[in-house]
Amino acid sequence: MNVPNTAPELFTWEFAGDPYPAYAWLREHSPVHWTKLPSGVEAWLVTRYDDARQALADGRLSKNPDHHAEDAEAKGRTGIPGERSANLMTHLLNIDPPDHTRLRRLVSKAFTPRRVAEFAPRVQELTDDLIDRFAPRGEADLIHDFAFPLPIYAICDLLGVPREDQDDFRDWAGMMIRHGGGPRGGVARSVKKIRGYLAELIHRKRGDLGEDLISGLIRASDHGEHLTENEAAAMCFVLLFAGFETTINLIGNGTYALLRNPGQRHRLQESIERGETALLDTGIEELLRYDGPVELATWRFATEPLTIGGQRIATGDPVLVVLAAADRDPARFAQPDALDLSRRDNQHLGYGHGIHYCLGAPLARLEGRTALETLLRRLPDLELAADPADLRWRGGLIMRGLRDLPVRFTAA
Ligand code: HEM
Repeated sequence: MNVPNTAPELFTWEFAGDPYPAYAWLREHSPVHWTKLPSGVEAWLVTRYDDARQALADGRLSKNPDHHAEDAEAKGRTGIPGERSANLMTHLLNIDPPDHTRLRRLVSKAFTPRRVAEFAPRVQELTDDLIDRFAPRGEADLIHDFAFPLPIYAICDLLGVPREDQDDFRDWAGMMIRHGGGPRGGVARSVKKIRGYLAELIHRKRGDLGEDLISGLIRASDHGEHLTENEAAAMCFVLLFAGFETTINLIGNGTYALLRNPGQRHRLQESIERGETALLDTGIEELLRYDGPVELATWRFATEPLTIGGQRIATGDPVLVVLAAADRDPARFAQPDALDLSRRDNQHLGYGHGIHYCLGAPLARLEGRTALETLLRRLPDLELAADPADLRWRGGLIMRGLRDLPVRFTAA
């Protein structure tokens, strides 16, 4: 890897293709780095593993940009309970304790590891159905034909969105990731449609509870407390969207990393053919570390003056923890730029850390594992059908994922 000699330009198209040399420079020369983002907003980037882990667990970093504001008007933008509860964006990733603690406890009662484990046969069925559709062609765009539809159908099924409505969700979700999730134009329309749909669905389920996750959310209670209708809608929304683009990227970035590391890929393929699971288990974690779906953790804001990695951070300053840089830190990982599917000492930050640690990690692991295992088993001679230099990466700040991934294989 060619680490630049001088301060690299960040967030350019070239950077998007391979941000790791620039992150190596930052870790070495400016580990807590003040930068101007493409949006014009300035923020601290935290790139060393130890600093990143500490920042993710630091209760003085809030998810609420107005937390420190004294004036009621500023607080009103996001802070008034009445306004917040009516907002789909008032979800786990955007709130602090004690609200966060209460909502996370309630959702954890319904979204259990057991529910995810029982869902495994359905994920396998969805995976096989999608592969059946493109396998006879001998070529595919693995993002469009596979990585994109799998997570949306999976989470819709788990939540209890009726099958006949799932294609609408796929279209709304596609609109949201194409436009980066900002609250404008088509995105605003999609959010509005989703809000209306979820409110109606939750209302309907309330009158006719079933075994699905939405019914579970409605039933969940803690010390007699339940989710309000708005909280339930915001919860469904975050489950849909925190679990969607991330899982696309796990399947996309993961397959791409395997195709570019043939030695590792063949070891994995042989172990799958022998029916072993150990290398698949450590391999999924390694793919999350090596080129994970979430490049930067979501926004955090200092509620008081604090120090990260020796750098003073002022009250109100935005802090972005660069998971992709922390997970390649040579101070934490041996040979961090090498893909080693059997890596055992692998406490990566791909799912975050602290109170916002990924709620969907068991589902993500199930989907990632099933997708990669089934692809390699059913299409053993899968290969890249494009020059890596021609592949395009999606432009958003937080996520890292391919727009397309053309492959070919012997038609099956
Ligand atoms: C939070 C990564 C899949 C639901 C997070 C965070 C990360 C992450 C890094 C913390 C962000 C922060 O602290 O700023 C991933 C990755 C996934 C994945 C890499 C796939 C490979 C999923 C799935 C779901 C999900 C499938 C649900 C269906 C959530 C939720 C949160 C979260 C609800 C917020 C938790 C909280 O704030 O308490 N995820 N995620 N994620 N994730 Fe995931």
